[in-house]
Amino acid sequence: MPQPEWADFDAPCLAVFLRRCQIASEIKLETYPVEQAEIGLIGLGVMGANLALNIAEKGNKIAVFNRTTEVTKKFYAEAGALQGQIIPCETMEDFIAAIRPPRPIIIMIKAGEPVDQQMEQLKPYLSAGDIMIDAGNANFRDTMRRFESLKDSDLTFIGMGVSGGEEGARHGPSIMVGGTEESWKRVEKVLTSISAKFHGEPCVAWLGENGAGHFVKTIHNGIEYADMQMIAEIYGILRDGLGLDAGAIGDVFGKWNTGRLNSYLIEISEKVLKAKDPISGKPMVDMIVDAAGQKGTGKWSVIEAQNMGVAATAIEAAVAGRILSSQKKEREAAETIFGLPEGVAAPKDGMAFLADLENALLAAKIGAYAQGFAVMAAASKEYNWNLPMPTIAKIWRDGCIIRSQFLDEITSAFTKDPDAANLIVTPAFSKMVKETDGALRRVVSYAVMAGLPVPALSSALSYFDAYRRSRGTANLIQAQRDFFGAHGFDRVDGADKHHGPWGSGLADFK
Ligand code: 6PG
Repeated sequence: MPQPEWADFDAPCLAVFLRRCQIASEIKLETYPVEQAEIGLIGLGVMGANLALNIAEKGNKIAVFNRTTEVTKKFYAEAGALQGQIIPCETMEDFIAAIRPPRPIIIMIKAGEPVDQQMEQLKPYLSAGDIMIDAGNANFRDTMRRFESLKDSDLTFIGMGVSGGEEGARHGPSIMVGGTEESWKRVEKVLTSISAKFHGEPCVAWLGENGAGHFVKTIHNGIEYADMQMIAEIYGILRDGLGLDAGAIGDVFGKWNTGRLNSYLIEISEKVLKAKDPISGKPMVDMIVDAAGQKGTGKWSVIEAQNMGVAATAIEAAVAGRILSSQKKEREAAETIFGLPEGVAAPKDGMAFLADLENALLAAKIGAYAQGFAVMAAASKEYNWNLPMPTIAKIWRDGCIIRSQFLDEITSAFTKDPDAANLIVTPAFSKMVKETDGALRRVVSYAVMAGLPVPALSSALSYFDAYRRSRGTANLIQAQRDFFGAHGFDRVDGADKHHGPWGSGLADFK
């Protein structure tokens, strides 16, 4: 076993070493020489522990701390061959001393108030240049506030979106970083080493100052909600319209996963549809209550879209879909009053309809992603982030929940035209929409006549129909507003007359 270079140890580092020997001997493990850690991590819950192991496995020394020391000990004891890369710490003093300054410290705990409390606890131990990194699913407004609160200090803050769940955290997540460029430089190497790679390209990037990383993660989740809702709506058509069982629907998704819809969400949909409940032997999905949970990121996406005046109708529909799903008792009561519609005959050409369903999902998905990117473009202006759209698409190609082949196509579209007004009008995507919008129209028509709810698919279709029509119907809304509130309107001939001849003297009012 290599011996510690005693001469290289400074006093705090030695203290950490001795402490670590104590922890290690308590759990009867061999000790290793300590060099300072490249990074620290607080919070060894599922995500924190997996991220820490990933960091260690990629050759980075990491110091870890958990409020409950038993958790730290257990984590270290189970780290196996990675123990040599991990410095388990029992006290905050040891933890801080174990990290090479300026110290990047990942905080991976429950979002919200606990993060503020953790930051307050940490602050007295930190010194100039140290970086607190919130890696949870934070509301970007909290991130902005935290960043701002440190503005006049010599400490700094990174808001870091991490996507990919437990598996991603352990083996390669997609990482969205917001903070100063200087703080990014300090963590770039470690984060690049642990991120997912798409054909060798790391799925991590610095996206801008303060809340940029958490904002982009929020929109990632908003798109995730829309993607999942649309897949569930197609599942509903296959189950309740065409009468397919779970396994058969799994087969359909499995086939689609080899085509243009190839994505992680379609892949896992096939897997969950084919899984059997070990208790009843029935398909697992048939035993799950149809009430979806949500922790807030979808709702935040919608709120921020509304705040900035961006139409994100498919994402809104997905959030509303989850809300309605959770009102299980009310839905049961309503079904006893209204019953279910009689339905319509399934389309005669089953194969053609399956192709329509596949294309409809693609068309609607384009709408949802176009909306998500439009929200980010607006936020980029609003908060002066200069968000790099091609880079965002790039780092979502692997590691994250919405990873897909499709995101590689979005990367190309935005690389060619980074300032495109909307993804839909880029050459590659306008071609795709032209090829698939007819299918979406047929599928939505069928679902409407069959009484099957398709809020996200139909929202995406209406969004497209509204977006592509140069003469809409808001002229009537403007006339109504002018009628009852003298709000005025623009004229199509550009003439200087801004009120209508509604009577009651308004016509003469200029
Ligand atoms: C990810 C996921 C992850 C998590 C969300 C989903 O990107 O890894 O989005 O962040 O699954 O918290 O949250 P809901 O509970 O709101 O669906």
